[in-house]
Amino acid sequence: MNIAANVGPAFTLEVADADSIDELRHQAEGCTRCDLYRNATQTVFGEGPNKAEIVIVGEQPGDREDITGRPFVGPAGHLLDHCLEEAGVDRQRCYVTNAVKHFKFTPRGKRRLHAKPNAGEIRRCAWWLGAELNILQPKLIVTLGASALYALLGPKAKLTPERGHILQPRNHPPILVTIHPSFLLRIRDEAEKHRQRQAFVSDLHKVAEFQQR
Ligand code: URA
Repeated sequence: MNIAANVGPAFTLEVADADSIDELRHQAEGCTRCDLYRNATQTVFGEGPNKAEIVIVGEQPGDREDITGRPFVGPAGHLLDHCLEEAGVDRQRCYVTNAVKHFKFTPRGKRRLHAKPNAGEIRRCAWWLGAELNILQPKLIVTLGASALYALLGPKAKLTPERGHILQPRNHPPILVTIHPSFLLRIRDEAEKHRQRQAFVSDLHKVAEFQQR
């Protein structure tokens, strides 16, 4: 067990101790740190190259991710892929993970509706996220949405004022703050959807600049 000096200044966290992402992934398969494992199919751990310089952090796996065991492979993941491509970011060179590693949902008939993870679940799961970051030591972290931002910087960092900015927290790699692609999927008005999508791609251009360095 070690104390994560480089996980968010907002709260000091203990994180998992492992030498590699594979070892961490193996440990996380049996995670019971919060109750979400009870109803989820499996732990959905991060994936990407061991030497990834960019880490993209989402909120939690969705229905598709829960079934396949892989992050960002459902509708939000497809949209993320398209926007990364438009921005010139190579997803294959990024490590993609989530603040929370189990799917949280409310059953509605045959469907499983996404339910937002609470602060306690995010904090408990930072045990894994902090360890992933300790091992990878990325040049840039990209937080998609409020839960990912909360997982790294706690309650003081707010998405709206920080969106599009690269924060330079103490003892932490720089963090690019942006929205979650599922936000775009929920917008009904086509013009607004287009505007927000352009803004998202423009945020992701900053990731491409890091990749080109
Ligand atoms: N939304 C997320 O935040 N993560 C996923 O893996 C899929 C959807």
